[in-house]
Amino acid sequence: MDFDGDIAARLDGRHVLVTGVTGFVGEALLQHLLAEVSGVRVTVLVRPKGSMRGAARVAGLLRKQIFQGVIEGAGGVEPLMAARVAVLEGDLGDVPVLPSDLDAVVHCAGDVSFDPPVDEGFRTNVVGTRDLLDRVRAASADIHYVHISTAYVAGRRRGRVAEESIDHSVDLEQELAWGLAQRGSVEQRSRSAELLGEQRRRAERTHGRAGLLTAARATEEARKEWVKEELVRLGTERARSLGWTDCYTFTKALGERVVEEYARDPQAPARASIVRPSIIESALAKPYPGWIEGFKMAEPLILAYGRAELPEFPSAADTVVDIVPVDHVVSAIIAVLAHPAEPGAPAYFHVASGDRNPLTVGQLYSNVRAYFGKHPFVTGDRGAAQLPDWRFPGARSVERLLTTSERAHKVADYMIGHAPRSDRTRDLARKLDQQGRRLEFLRRYLDLYREYAQAQLNFDDSRTIGLHRSLSDADQETFAFDTAVIDWPVYLQDIHCPAVTAPIRKLDERRQATRRPQRGVLREVTAGDGIAAFFDMDGTLLSSNVIEGFLWLRLQELSGAERLGQLGRVAAKVPGMVQAERRDRTDFLRTVYRQYAGARLADLDVIADKHLTDHVLARLSPEAVRRVRSHQRAGHRTVLITGAIRPLTRPLAPLFDHIEAAELAVDERGVCTGYLAASPLVGESRSAWMRSYAAEHGINLAKSFGYADSHSDLPLLAAVGHPVAVRPDVPLFRHARRSHWSIVDWASPGSDRLHNPVFESR
Ligand SMILES: NC(=O)c1ccc[n+]([C@@H]2O[C@H](COP(=O)([O-])OP(=O)(O)OC[C@H]3O[C@@H](n4cnc5c(N)ncnc54)[C@H](OP(=O)(O)O)[C@@H]3O)[C@@H](O)[C@H]2O)c1
Repeated sequence: MDFDGDIAARLDGRHVLVTGVTGFVGEALLQHLLAEVSGVRVTVLVRPKGSMRGAARVAGLLRKQIFQGVIEGAGGVEPLMAARVAVLEGDLGDVPVLPSDLDAVVHCAGDVSFDPPVDEGFRTNVVGTRDLLDRVRAASADIHYVHISTAYVAGRRRGRVAEESIDHSVDLEQELAWGLAQRGSVEQRSRSAELLGEQRRRAERTHGRAGLLTAARATEEARKEWVKEELVRLGTERARSLGWTDCYTFTKALGERVVEEYARDPQAPARASIVRPSIIESALAKPYPGWIEGFKMAEPLILAYGRAELPEFPSAADTVVDIVPVDHVVSAIIAVLAHPAEPGAPAYFHVASGDRNPLTVGQLYSNVRAYFGKHPFVTGDRGAAQLPDWRFPGARSVERLLTTSERAHKVADYMIGHAPRSDRTRDLARKLDQQGRRLEFLRRYLDLYREYAQAQLNFDDSRTIGLHRSLSDADQETFAFDTAVIDWPVYLQDIHCPAVTAPIRKLDERRQATRRPQRGVLREVTAGDGIAAFFDMDGTLLSSNVIEGFLWLRLQELSGAERLGQLGRVAAKVPGMVQAERRDRTDFLRTVYRQYAGARLADLDVIADKHLTDHVLARLSPEAVRRVRSHQRAGHRTVLITGAIRPLTRPLAPLFDHIEAAELAVDERGVCTGYLAASPLVGESRSAWMRSYAAEHGINLAKSFGYADSHSDLPLLAAVGHPVAVRPDVPLFRHARRSHWSIVDWASPGSDRLHNPVFESR
């Protein structure tokens, strides 16, 4: 390979196709090419995203701050695009015909997730590369193809890795066929009766009270999640069984094999260079120190450490972590681009730091720690985050630590799910969810990074540094990629950490400034037609429950001795009722209403009017009443939906336009049979009723409001555009937080009674 000559002169008048310019490396490459090699013309292959066409995406990209100088020089985005940046819209899944006057191609696009579903990894990194190369060959025989790979194609081997073809004997075609076929076979397995049965039972345990369709939706979600996880697991396991860390490095290694087959084709040997960067991080100098797009490999860990959420790391302190700044990577790519490989002899370039300027995990840790020591994250009222002290106890100890925490979390989660509802329970649930998210983060990153954290690879970069040394002094400055010059403490403490923490600090500041109270966030009630407000009764409007209501009504009608007998009978049944309510609320209500057998319905109405009004008013939440009234004033229809029997709702009649309650069945004498006239409205039957009520009364559910307190009311709340969880139980509380629903804490007099597990059943 001829390394002599000036880069700008070598690339003058050349037409280069670049893929992946909307990504981190591609964007930096495009900027550096346009800024430093004025005679080069670029065509970029970009796929549309949503409704945005490729050309619009590129125009948006060029308006970013790093392109400002180039845009000013060209007189605007459009003149620059007309003169130097053509857009070829296309996807690696369906590569379009390439321009026939191309001199070179730089293929930066790829699936860079470590754990993609196996078919997706193969499709983008292997099939995408092969299809692109077919188009390259069809465009011209003398194109220089530059392939951006990764140094980690070396996989799980140890020691020095040369800049040459990776030695392996994997049957590319067989693996490719296997990888692409996995989605079909996993989808098939996901529909097995055993798996579906297991997922359905689990979903019904959690969502059965809300309704069987809610549980069915959760079952289907679980099946889809299983498919995704299984495709990821298959990719990882296959990769490891063949000596790679994960599906990413496995498919990137097979992508290199595709390039080698292309270059070494005996009928038509072609020019191909393979550039293998290690871990790419923020820029050392260009376009400015610290430039970075998105979160890459080290950032989530640096941020988690700064937030005191990463208690340990599964690596030895002396393991080398191989980092390269992105400007070194793109400078090396441009230098390689300017020095085409010989046809039939692919050339390999490691862009890495570990060989000549090693940074150990221990040094990385002390620099990051020193940075956060000086510039801590300040969390709310708690002040500076307390930085964990890493002792590097080894991967096994870290794994044990995490497993123990995960087990403890699972137990606490089970207990909180069964605890009586209260402010304290909800607060604990919130903290537990936060802790759960942290543990999930740790598990995910530990699993993904364990391999990299323990890698003992040393990437030989003699060819790359040879190329750098062959450049003129001016080019060595403009296209700097000698990683030996990096001063790690300066780079980490003054450039990289400030760059990656800046957006988070800004976000924190914004959140702090606009911080709204978690609870009580209620949408204003504004006047409008065709709007309804649906209220659940027990636990939402008032602190009462059907057992309590039943006792109030029945005990009033009975004599002293009968009362005692009735009380005893009900008390004996309460534990069974609580269980029944957990399983199925309809059955529970039926069990309670069975106790009305023999009572005269007319008497119940009289008792309700005479004795129950005070009882209900005493338990009615004043905030709930204010809210109902504000809906009335706004011209909304107010509707009460309850599983309680109609006589119990009589005191609330003035508040509502309509009350939908359970009707007790009576015989010809007006005596209650102990059965209901129709099934009580619970779970999904509430939303079905609301839909038909809305249709009948011209109500727009998307503009309407719903108020309820229990997970079994999920369908009621999900049916309206403005759901409000009122003093919710833990499962509803969690759902409401995830869905960004309003959560209010309307205290009702005597609401402490709800904390009593007996009355917890409402
Ligand atoms: N980042 C690193 O630390 C690192 C280290 C070593 C090697 N590398 C290699 O460097 C290259 C670029 O990585 P990156 O960090 O810049 O990744 P990135 O930020 O995720 O960008 C990936 C790019 O690929 C494009 N792309 C993905 N699938 C595509 C498809 N089917 N059709 C067309 N375009 C598609 C994306 O386009 P959209 O915007 O349309 O999604 C995006 O422009 C990759 O080959 C990677 O293996 C990266």
